[in-house]
This record gives sequence, C-alpha cells and structure tokens, in this order.
Amino acid sequence: MGLMTPIATEAIASPNIALIKYWGNRDHELRLPANDSLSMTLGGLETRVRMALDPALDADRMVADSRPITGEPLERVSRFLQIVRQLSGRREYASIETWSNFPQGVGIASSAAAFAALAVAADAAYGLGLDRKSLSRLARRGSGSAARSVFGGFVRLRSGQEDAAAFAEPILGAGHWGLVDLIAIVSTSPKEVGSSKGHRLAETSPLQKARVEDTPRRFDLCMHALLARDFQRLATIVQQDSDLMHAVMMTSTPPLHYWEPATLAIMKTVLAWQAQGLQVAYTVDAGPNVHCLCPAAHAEEIQARLQAIPGVQTILCCHPGQEARLLIRPGAG
Ligand code: PMV
Repeated sequence: MGLMTPIATEAIASPNIALIKYWGNRDHELRLPANDSLSMTLGGLETRVRMALDPALDADRMVADSRPITGEPLERVSRFLQIVRQLSGRREYASIETWSNFPQGVGIASSAAAFAALAVAADAAYGLGLDRKSLSRLARRGSGSAARSVFGGFVRLRSGQEDAAAFAEPILGAGHWGLVDLIAIVSTSPKEVGSSKGHRLAETSPLQKARVEDTPRRFDLCMHALLARDFQRLATIVQQDSDLMHAVMMTSTPPLHYWEPATLAIMKTVLAWQAQGLQVAYTVDAGPNVHCLCPAAHAEEIQARLQAIPGVQTILCCHPGQEARLLIRPGAG
C-alpha cells in the first residue's frame, strides 16, 4: 500500500468573556481553577483549527495565521496533544494550522478559542469520542477558560477539587439575552505576562483569598441578574468582579498591571455614562482592552461613543455565540 495523504480534521470555536472571572489555580499542572467562573461565548470572533495526524512527523508542527509557531507556545500545544495521545493510545504527531479573525494574545481570550477548537479537532482526529463534559475537561488542560468555550451562550466553569470535577456546563442558551460585547481595542501589542504565569502569581496577593472566598456571592448575584435580564444589577457585579481580579493582579509579587491609561479612561467614561442612565458596563481581562457590555438596543450608540474616546483604535462587536464544533470530520476528505 502506498503512503496515504493525512486526512485533515477541522474545528471552530469562539473566545468568551468572563462575567465572573477565574484567576489563580488550585493545581497549576492540571489547571484546576481556584474559583468558579461564568462567561458569555463571543459570537462573531472565531478561531479555526485544522489538524492532520502524520506518521512521518517526528514532532508536532503548527502554523498560526500563516506564521510558524515555535518555542514555548508550540511546546504548550504539544503538551496538550500528549494528553490526547495518552488517552487514545496513538502516537502520531500532528500538523496543525489555525486561523483567527481577531487579534491574538492581547486579552481577548485567544487561548480559550484556540484550545477549545483544538480539543474538538484532536478528539476527532485521534478518535477519542469524548462527550461534551469530557471535551471541556480536556480543553481546560490547555487553558482554563477554554473549558467554557466548548459551550455556547452563558457558561459556568466549575472549579472542582480534582480533574474529574473541573468542567464547564451551559447554563443559559445564546438566545436568552441579546447582550452585546463591544471590545474597545487600545493595544494589540502581545502582553508581557501571559495568564499561565499570572495564575501562579495570584496566590502571592494578600487579596486573593478574600476574592476566592467571596466568589459564591458574586456568582449568585450575576446568575440572578442574568436570569432576570436585569442589566443594572449585572453591571454592578460584573464591574466589581473585574476590579477585584485586577486588585489581586496589582497586589501580586511581582505586581501585574495590565491596564494602559486608555483602559482606565474608558472605564471612567463608562461609569459617567452609567450615571447619565446609559445601560453599559465594563469588564477587563488579562490585557488592556476593555469589554463594554450593553443590551443590543443600545449597541450602536455606545459603539459610536466609544469610538470617540482618545486611544480607542478599533471596536470588535460580539453577541452570545455558539459552541465549539467540528467542521470537517476525519475521513471526510
Ligand atoms: O484561560 P486562561 O489561563 O487564559 O485564564 C483566563 C483568565 C481571565 O481571562 C483573566 C479570566 C477568565 O475567567 O477568563
């Protein structure tokens, strides 16, 4: 029999914005989050992952948006695929290509979309046949927040004491509430300290223990606001949760400051708009860009106002999105 051309598998996933954020791990190797989190999957932003298993390869290979990936980012993907190889009992290395329609590594959860899509693609390529819960656990090993991007709509990530208990689950469908996330981009420079390193610093902040212990309260308030589609309550708790996480970051040793001057300028402007009665809320991940949430009916006006703030380069507009899914099955070529 001649050498067969490896058949590609393709999957797609969206990033997500955490309304109640995860920061810090109880186990870094397993990426067991220190606290429960709650997110909205971001429709409109997508990462596609195509992978082919190739018996001729002596290592995994990866190209992201036409750029070859090497060093630690490739090793991270390889460590992830090693888990899949162990689970499947197969040994082939993979050739991977990814495409994203949004900037990478700047605090828009690019690793969440990438590892959710990679988990779905690798599951199919290596023939694991995992159910959604197990796919979420697998994605978590690549990036904690990726566990949430396996699902669409509004999603909870259970922190769990052990690997089997730390997985995400959908709590409300994408159609529950037409919220819009306007991401005000103030910088597309790659961040200096990635979240994997940041999670390790969390425990050095004297505020982290209090933040983690208070999570059930914030989670309940957020859940009730979502269920009731109560924007004002949502805004209050989402902003407090974001500020708490950044307070932990800023008081770690060494300290982490992800905000740029424009980040704070946008946050203060959003607060001023709220005081005028506008329905809008800010939340900031591990980067300087500001996610501005609002009901769909106000999105056009808020977008125009955001665009006028000095330092805002561009605005990405997202709505509740769909789960990670396969586009091309292995053998379908
Ligand atoms: O999944 P990671 O390791 O990139 O961590 C995500 C951390 C935050 O985006 C800051 C918060 C969150 O819950 O998404």
